Amino acid sequence: KKKLSIAIDGPAAAGKSTVAKIVAEKLSYLYIDTGAMYRALTYKAIIGNLDIEDEEALLKSLMSTEIELVPAESGQLVYLDDQNVTHEIRTAAVTNSVSIVSKHPKVRKEMVKRQQKFAQNGGVVMDGRDIGTHVLPNAEVKVFLRASVEERALRRHLENQQKGFPSDLEKLKQEIALRDKIDSERETAPLKKAEDAIEIDTTSLTIPEVVDQIMALVDERI
Ligand code: C5P
Repeated sequence: KKKLSIAIDGPAAAGKSTVAKIVAEKLSYLYIDTGAMYRALTYKAIIGNLDIEDEEALLKSLMSTEIELVPAESGQLVYLDDQNVTHEIRTAAVTNSVSIVSKHPKVRKEMVKRQQKFAQNGGVVMDGRDIGTHVLPNAEVKVFLRASVEERALRRHLENQQKGFPSDLEKLKQEIALRDKIDSERETAPLKKAEDAIEIDTTSLTIPEVVDQIMALVDERI
């Protein structure tokens, strides 16, 4: 069977990682969460007191940083220079700075290089913002997930509540909208549906329904 590359893009909290993980598991493919890589660098910048507007400082830090994505029962563990930062990279501090770190062209260039290396043998499901447009332009399956900002904020809110984290729905809505704005308006590789990507509006779909739609696309191409 052919080992495909599957690109899943879309705005913040659209359910990309949830469905990407399940699709990867079903196909025994490697799952790569590219957002986790930008988050890991952002975490390192915060800890190291770097100015997140300083492109050169961020690039220098990245060049001496190892970011590892390790498949695990729970989906994926993220290691930053051998330190497990899986949970640290999901904090509000990181979430609210990551779009600034990610707008720098030199940072993106290095990240894309690493991501393409992860994908070089095919058999990957990669999620992010620019996978179909820049990282894997030749991916056999490209999906762009959409959902209303209200729905995305609500899903994140329920997830937070389930985990026992404090959560403010209105604030979540604002944060998600702001991150989407920065990600879509940046000059380098902005969040954008690839011309040949299939758009799925997940607003009123369940997770298994979205997974089934993607698996149907995979079956057509495999
Ligand atoms: O996917 P996640 O929400 O974890 O991504 C965090 C941030 O990383 C995004 O809001 C975006 O700024 C950046 N990102 C990116 N390109 C990608 C993946 C993520 O710019 N391919």
